[in-house]
Amino acid sequence: MTQISMTVNGKSVSADVEPRTLLVQFLREKLLLTGTHVGCDTSQCGACVVHVDGEAVKSCTMLAVQADGASVLTIEGLAQGGRLHPMQEAFREHHGLQCGFCTPGMIMTAVDLAARLGPELDEKTIRENLDGNLCRCTGYHNIVKAVAAGAHAMGAQPVKAAAE
Ligand code: FES
Ligand code: FES
Repeated sequence: MTQISMTVNGKSVSADVEPRTLLVQFLREKLLLTGTHVGCDTSQCGACVVHVDGEAVKSCTMLAVQADGASVLTIEGLAQGGRLHPMQEAFREHHGLQCGFCTPGMIMTAVDLAARLGPELDEKTIRENLDGNLCRCTGYHNIVKAVAAGAHAMGAQPVKAAAE
């Protein structure tokens, strides 16, 4: 076992983990943060996306020990003070989900995308940047609308602000 410490959604956590533990397993099974989903075993679906030190990462592609000392933001940490994050609000408003399984990863990717590329995102840019996130339900149209609206609402707000 290896001891690791990190900040998750603004709180310090420490735990002993097996070196082979994936970050997504650590979040879901040790911390019980089950909003981060596992939708594949081939690193393709994007349901597991979280932010590590402010950047979107597929948490099934990273070992928990590699996040030692990092600041991690999951979907559970996005709402602040009882208010949905603007990107969450935009997904709700524009019906950017059906079953909701892909939604946490979509939203975490979308927040990163908006923070990197700014508030005015065209459809082509959004579709290109969501190519690592798969949705079986929606046909993507409303997700694209939601991401455009969410990015606009976020303005130039940096991702890290939500974690602090
Ligand atoms: Fe599918 Fe991580 S679980 S990409
Ligand atoms: Fe069901 Fe995307 S809403 S997989």
